[in-house]
Amino acid sequence: MLLKELSSLTSPLSEPQLSKLQLALNDLSPTQTAWVSGYLAGISQASGGQVQAQGAVSQPAQRVTILFGSQTGNAKGVAEELYQQAQAQGIAARLVNMADYKAKELKTESHLLIVASTNGEGEAPDDAVTFHDFLASKKAPKVPELKYSVCALGDSSYEFYCQTGLEFDERLAALGAEAVVDRADCDVDYDDVVAAWSEQALAAVKATLKEATTSAAPIAAVASNHVANSYTKKKPFKTELLVNQKITGRFSGKDIRHVEIALEDAGISYQAGDALGIWFKNDPVLVDAILDQLELDGTETVTVANETENLRDALINRFELTQSYPSFIQAYAELSGSKKLAKLLDDKAALRNYCYGRQILDVIDEKKAKLTATQLISGLRKITPRLYSIASSPNEAEGEVHLTVAVVDYQQSGEQRIGGASGFLQRLEEGAEIEVFVEHNDNFRLPSNDETPVIMIGPGTGIAPFRAFVQERDVREATGNNWLFFGNQHFTDDFLYQTEWQSYLKSGLLTKMDVAFSRDQAEKVYVQDRLRENATELYTWLEQGAHVYVCGDGDRMAKDVNEALIEIVAEQGKLARSEAEEYVAELRRNKRYQRDVY
Ligand SMILES: Cc1cc2nc3c(=O)[nH]c(=O)nc-3n(C[C@H](O)[C@H](O)[C@H](O)COP(=O)(O)OP(=O)(O)OC[C@H]3O[C@@H](n4cnc5c(N)ncnc54)[C@H](O)[C@@H]3O)c2cc1C
Ligand SMILES: Cc1cc2nc3c(=O)[nH]c(=O)nc-3n(C[C@H](O)[C@H](O)[C@H](O)COP(=O)(O)O)c2cc1C
Repeated sequence: MLLKELSSLTSPLSEPQLSKLQLALNDLSPTQTAWVSGYLAGISQASGGQVQAQGAVSQPAQRVTILFGSQTGNAKGVAEELYQQAQAQGIAARLVNMADYKAKELKTESHLLIVASTNGEGEAPDDAVTFHDFLASKKAPKVPELKYSVCALGDSSYEFYCQTGLEFDERLAALGAEAVVDRADCDVDYDDVVAAWSEQALAAVKATLKEATTSAAPIAAVASNHVANSYTKKKPFKTELLVNQKITGRFSGKDIRHVEIALEDAGISYQAGDALGIWFKNDPVLVDAILDQLELDGTETVTVANETENLRDALINRFELTQSYPSFIQAYAELSGSKKLAKLLDDKAALRNYCYGRQILDVIDEKKAKLTATQLISGLRKITPRLYSIASSPNEAEGEVHLTVAVVDYQQSGEQRIGGASGFLQRLEEGAEIEVFVEHNDNFRLPSNDETPVIMIGPGTGIAPFRAFVQERDVREATGNNWLFFGNQHFTDDFLYQTEWQSYLKSGLLTKMDVAFSRDQAEKVYVQDRLRENATELYTWLEQGAHVYVCGDGDRMAKDVNEALIEIVAEQGKLARSEAEEYVAELRRNKRYQRDVY
């Protein structure tokens, strides 16, 4: 029954309640309405909603909840596909982002499928932290009736591989739940493992749901923080590279590029804080060097994903060549009989160190081997797109998206090595075709209140989202103060978007900007040093409700900045270390301290 046909006589709502509901729903698109209906169904189930409104569709006693925790969209994509498969099979299912999941709902679940990635150093994605912490706490209920399975996404080159998924799995088991299918640990190249797990997990859910369900009309409740774009990682948008401009100076040690890409008429929406995914092709020069080394000529035919093509094309388009990874080391150790590589496989830390800074070519350089084309590709991982923080506001750069890309360029055994995606962007000419998709990030957003002050800390390419933030604050005519910290090697060659910042400072939009050029003086200076120098003012801003954003290098910078923040809070707030840590943790919980680090 449509809302407009409802009256207080035919529904349990009073007239004022009905008109409030009608008012709230008036502006919603069909997709948003579907989301809200699912959300309300979830709430009703969670509160044990036994009472059925007259005329309302009856809810099944049991259903599967697909719960995802995702930082950069992969687990979300997997969960969305799983949900569609469940629907196609007539399984009563709902899809919920962990950020929207009420802990008390757990007790009401009959079947739970978790898809979760690992972030940081073995940490849960931002959206999953609250539920993860709850599950680990004493407050988590025993759930002996629950049937579950976990799909863990990760990257085997990290020390804590698939740690978050593993923790969800272990904790649910400890709470008495029954794993209907073993956990799947999925590496970067996860499609096949995910497909197998999804099939098994849904089959197990279906089998056990049937036994318990009396009126199993499927319900569909989608909970996600935004309306999905029609272009995704798997279905990217083919568009044009508009601008590809080096923005570091002639004498800079880095090649950093300002890239503009057309989005006109794509129907793609993005917000400041989102990232853009880029599909890339490997450099044919690199591919030829690998073929030479293995004495393959590239015309051999190979079959990849049911398509037959020549080896050279497959290497250019389909496989990761600019990184090395444990699965290839293992395959090549066996095929070549290299003792050095075989030994590395016994020592995870040594293997990680070895992989860093080595490409596939460097691994096959270790020992000559005669491989067939099929043997070669069987050890290689499929290419995965790279993400770049969007450096423009859609309201300023209409129909375009801008990026700030540092070309990965280093030496290995005296030879130059270039990154896969950043090298592709370096080579790509303006006007050329490029495949992209938007990855939303609701954990890196400007405050909704435009009066709120913001502190942005973005050295190197970490500056990218802050260009988007400042443009957005400008367009919105936000009155809140804006303070930007930027750092790089040299003032003259590495001051990214210098003139833009200068004009924002002049117009007053940027209240303050502090820069740290690390190599312009004998002593190295970094953004965290500038934070400490400004401790008193920084603390005042925090006490006034400022939101803090950090973007860029996650290995060192983000940790050093975090440490500086804790020290500043302790010193200025006259707090013990543990209290200062809690102050900063509280900022994070309240989404006043957000990070986009890589
Ligand atoms: C959410 C998010 C946002 C991001 N935003 C940006 C952004 O705005 N701008 C940006 O430039 N990047 C950004 N990145 C990083 C980006 O996604 C890529 O990881 C980066 O461009 C490298 O990809 P690549 O394909 O060029 O290099 P790859 O082919 O992936 O090569 C990387 C490998 O090269 C080796 N390597 C790299 N540097 C060195 C070195 N100095 N010495 C020795 N070995 C080295 C390491 O083995 C490393 O694993 C972001 C990442 C994420 C997850
Ligand atoms: C900054 C960063 C840190 C990561 N840390 C880990 C880790 O500690 N362990 C792991 O297995 N994978 C780690 N990964 C890999 C991700 O889990 C993997 O890319 C996954 O597919 C991401 O899924 P998501 O997009 O749903 O977040 C990390 C990735 C990034 C970008």
